[in-house]
Amino acid sequence: MKLIIDDADTKAISRLVEYYPIDGVTTNPSILAKSGRQPFEVLKEIRSIIGQELELHVQVVARDAAGMLDDAHRIVSELGEGTFVKVPSVPEGFKAMKAMHAEGINITATAIYTPMQGFVAAKAGASYAAPYVNRIDNMGYDGVGVAKAIHDVFRANDLPCEVLAASFKNSQQVLDLARHGIGAATVAPAVIDGLVKNAAIDAAVDAFVADFEGLVGAGKTMATL
Ligand code: G3P
Repeated sequence: MKLIIDDADTKAISRLVEYYPIDGVTTNPSILAKSGRQPFEVLKEIRSIIGQELELHVQVVARDAAGMLDDAHRIVSELGEGTFVKVPSVPEGFKAMKAMHAEGINITATAIYTPMQGFVAAKAGASYAAPYVNRIDNMGYDGVGVAKAIHDVFRANDLPCEVLAASFKNSQQVLDLARHGIGAATVAPAVIDGLVKNAAIDAAVDAFVADFEGLVGAGKTMATL
């Protein structure tokens, strides 16, 4: 399962890319609005931080297929051909996905709340389908279950599309999907930090250091013995 950052905060992205095995960054119009910066200015800065090797996912904003295709062309020309263009999984979006797929543009189908949206998006040429796990949970349904169902539909139908689950609020939702072997999870910085934060871990590391320093002296490490 790829681990992707769902944010446009360039300081947070730099820190997370330095410390964790990150596979990319996803954004959406609301995330860009939260940055308070001009969209292509902040997106180009993100691209310069992550390089061309890591994935960057950027969403179209137009409501009709022709406008979505125009948005896609601009996104790819500004941010690189490998950029994944996020397209809402609505009828105009499926029409746009078919046209983008014919042009070889990488597509991430987004705004997915049901397995059948994922199925149709994959048939329309999407490489990723993004169900909104926590938002589905908040509607009283099972977000992790929907993401797993989409993964299973792709495998059962031999569709070359992966689940890129989004909208997480806790580690357990991410773990459940990692155990199922979905393609990717895109996670906000605070939740990524929470994946490996635990007082017992810190206490174990502190005890190792204290024991070692008790043996050889304060501040000593293997390198400075
Ligand atoms: O792109 C969709 C994803 O970022 C939604 O996350 O936390 O707004 O539900 P959230």
